[in-house]
Amino acid sequence: MSLDIVILAAGQGTRMRSALPKVLHPVAGQSMLGHVLDTARQLLPKGIHVVIGHGAEQVRARHAADDIAFVLQAEQLGTGHAVAQALPGLSAERVLILYGDVPLIQAETLKRLLDKVGPEQLALLTVELDDPTGYGRIIRDAAGRVTAIVEHKDASPEQRSIREGNTGILAVPAERLAGWLGRLSNDNAQGEYYLTDVIAMAVADGLTIETVQPDDPMEVQGANDRMQLAELERHYQLRAASRLMAQGVTLRDPARIDLRGEVTVGRDVLIDVNVILEGRVVIEDGVQIGPNCVIKDSTLRKGAIVKANSHLEGAELGEGADCGPFARLRPGAVLGRQAHVGNFVELKNAVLGEGAKAGHLSYLGDAEIGARSNIGAGTITCNYDGANKHRTIMGEDVFIGSNSALVAPVTLGAGATTGAGSTITQDVPAGSLAVGRARQRNIEGWQRPRKAEKKS
Ligand code: UD1
Ligand code: CA
Repeated sequence: MSLDIVILAAGQGTRMRSALPKVLHPVAGQSMLGHVLDTARQLLPKGIHVVIGHGAEQVRARHAADDIAFVLQAEQLGTGHAVAQALPGLSAERVLILYGDVPLIQAETLKRLLDKVGPEQLALLTVELDDPTGYGRIIRDAAGRVTAIVEHKDASPEQRSIREGNTGILAVPAERLAGWLGRLSNDNAQGEYYLTDVIAMAVADGLTIETVQPDDPMEVQGANDRMQLAELERHYQLRAASRLMAQGVTLRDPARIDLRGEVTVGRDVLIDVNVILEGRVVIEDGVQIGPNCVIKDSTLRKGAIVKANSHLEGAELGEGADCGPFARLRPGAVLGRQAHVGNFVELKNAVLGEGAKAGHLSYLGDAEIGARSNIGAGTITCNYDGANKHRTIMGEDVFIGSNSALVAPVTLGAGATTGAGSTITQDVPAGSLAVGRARQRNIEGWQRPRKAEKKS
């Protein structure tokens, strides 16, 4: 049976106290709505319809895609009214309702829900709550069959004692939906058109109401304020951490790693505390990551080591290569096998050949450095003339003396050496020594200036 998914995302989110529309607030580096869209796509629906209202233009701009239809709900008159706005665009046999501010819902749970919906069945996702305050309550008859949902504000004291709450997520047979929504009234405590009123209508039409529960109650938790947003974030992160551990990663502290994207991991990987992985990160077998590292869109080959406080973006470490502590690898930084980058070294668009080393305090930008070359402390590639970027090219086994400035474009042949403190402005032929600094002059018997004596 074909499926349309309607995602409600028009609400204001007043309690976030934010200029950003609520559904754009991030969990694990991605907007809450983005998570819901990812999950919706896993169900291979015919259409995804997002109902927007508050901050509509920002939401649309962020999530515009070919497979998404945005529907404007100009005034937020209730969840039933919101779904009604999407009706003209619906064409599938089943409709699943999701919420843009309930980001942790899992495709597996929704598949179980969709298994229960049919021409004569409506499927509701419900949850048993210790404190159901604020939730719609699931009303059942003596035989345990669902007969209605009553909103908290409309509920009698007896109904309020029911702990089975409405998650808001439901799946309905599409051909019935228009009729039900057309009959909704807003004669209730909140003066809203409640989507939940379709339950009693469905029962009156002879449908049965099936219920399904999520495996984990956090799946149906929404974020109404920043505290709840933080709870969702921590829950997501703990789940991500357990997944990594199940795949063979040792985490020094599963509560102190943050995953904001997708990571693939090998076995026997070791990750110390306070590591942030962003974007697409590939970590092969035996990699070690020290504390306080940020690693974004990078690949770490077998046995590579990232030492404490390093920051990597768009970088690649070859097998057995290492960097840090305090290394900064920017986009296009590539370390060959066994290459080494030490503390306070910045690389941008720079390739270090196999076994090459830059141990301390250097900037290497737009550079190609041959195998086994050694870059002395304080070496700077002067790659920018104020208008254009230029390349520095080094052959194999080059030795750059400490505190050298390599003024690009410049090429140093294999085995070339530069004297410490040199400013290299011309190409250096293979095998030769370049010394580009003033010759030392000693002045004998030099008297240092003296301070005038103080009069007492
Ligand atoms: C709703 C359910 C309640 C359920 C609870 C779970 C109804 C009437 N009630 O109540 O049974 O227990 O969720 O959290 O459905 N929205 C729109 N347009 C609107 C109104 C709401 O897009 O006109 C969106 C909101 O942005 C939000 C979601 O729908 O994402 C739920 O709306 P909200 O007003 O928070 O419903 P609740 O009162 O919590
Ligand atoms: Ca709500």
